[in-house]
Amino acid sequence: MIPQPFLNTIATKHHLSKAELEVLSLAMEGESIGAIADLLKISEDAVRKRLSEVYHKFQIVGRGPVKLPQLQRQLMKQYQEQLKAQGDLALNISLGTSYHLTQPQINNSMDWDGAPDVSVFYGRATELALLKDWIVNQGCRLVSLLGIGGVGKTVLGVRLAHQIQEHFESLIWRSLYFAPSLQEFLDQLIKVLSLNKETPNLNTVDQQISWLVSYFRSYRCLVIVDGFESILSRGKLAGTYREGYDNYGKFLKRIGEEPSKSCVIITSREKINEISYLQGETSRVKSLKVEGLGEDARFLLKEKGLSAEENWQQLIEDYRGNPLMLKLVAATIQEVFDGNVKDFLETTFFTHDVTGFVRELLDQLSELEAKIIVQMANEKEPIILQQLRENLSGVSSQDVISAVASLRQRALVEKSRDGFTLPPVIRATLGNGYHLPN
Ligand SMILES: Nc1ncnc2c1ncn2[C@@H]1O[C@H](COP(=O)(O)OP(=O)(O)OP(=O)(O)O)[C@@H](O)[C@H]1O
Ligand SMILES: [Mg+2]
Repeated sequence: MIPQPFLNTIATKHHLSKAELEVLSLAMEGESIGAIADLLKISEDAVRKRLSEVYHKFQIVGRGPVKLPQLQRQLMKQYQEQLKAQGDLALNISLGTSYHLTQPQINNSMDWDGAPDVSVFYGRATELALLKDWIVNQGCRLVSLLGIGGVGKTVLGVRLAHQIQEHFESLIWRSLYFAPSLQEFLDQLIKVLSLNKETPNLNTVDQQISWLVSYFRSYRCLVIVDGFESILSRGKLAGTYREGYDNYGKFLKRIGEEPSKSCVIITSREKINEISYLQGETSRVKSLKVEGLGEDARFLLKEKGLSAEENWQQLIEDYRGNPLMLKLVAATIQEVFDGNVKDFLETTFFTHDVTGFVRELLDQLSELEAKIIVQMANEKEPIILQQLRENLSGVSSQDVISAVASLRQRALVEKSRDGFTLPPVIRATLGNGYHLPN
């Protein structure tokens, strides 16, 4: 049988959608059209339609009934060729927690699993140069890309991975969007890295981690973990794990501390505590704060066909160069104001699309964080810590300080010489009927 990770990789190469891959995977397992329709709760016609799209993308021609066997043969052949090229991976499991990989193995597998396309990508030359230096020259083994939602962490991660992949034997890109348990997540990594062959009996998460740590010591793997905030908690300070997920921290600690030829890059809206403890100038664990696009956001506005260039600076500044928010607002400017930024700014500077997105970010806050930003929204001038503490009677100074630090980390609060303030979009959202979380 053809293993799923191989199918995933090949599906990405042939631009199959998730729905098409799903049907293909079941068909490759020998399921009939009727069974696939039942399993996916769709009509048989829909299954046939998806399959015919798959045949088209794999350039399989001929009569209907012969297409599936033809595709199966083609995929099996490619899979066997890949296996042959990669040689055998012999695993010699020693007792205890350390595993030795005996035969040298060139994996050369690239598993992008549905990472976004980054053919349109502006700016970030400084960030890319710095990240490359950390990873390729300094041998960093754990790097986080932190920043507010929509700022461009995911596409920066993908772009970076494209640029440095030649320095690695294998590459895996995985999203944590569906919040897999650590065990599921590591199981997937191990399957891909061992090319889905017999993996040793790894009964516990600790054994899985040890296997990976050994593997990372022997081979150069680049692993990109996207959307780490999915396993972090809502309603708590930034960086708090969801219940049952704190073993991810243990995994990162070992990756950060033990010798390795590999690198794990993580994108996250919230800080990752283990990385905060380990990072440092001379350490092989580092974090990059991803800020807005700045001047380069102009390329984005140009691409969207906006006009009144003399007002673009203002728009970019209001949104702190956040590409997702700028894209959202640009669509409205295009539809309602014929693309004229000046006309738009004379009316307002934000839209419901944007405030909807910002509300999502605010929903993550702890009760105290939410109270603090509501206070800040009520003040026109920057507010100082002392004032905040006085207004929040009954709350300890330490709690106020931690909550402000958490808000700063989430990039929802800015700091000037005169005190703390809110970025315009956050202020606007709060002024538009925000309710404190219960
Ligand atoms: N440098 C860039 N050039 C062009 N478009 C960009 C750039 N950075 C981000 N974008 C666009 O902005 C949007 C948001 O980017 P991305 O998904 O990478 O953000 P993110 O920080 O990962 O957000 P989230 O926290 O929601 O996962 C995407 O549509 C992306 O294509
Ligand atoms: Mg992202």
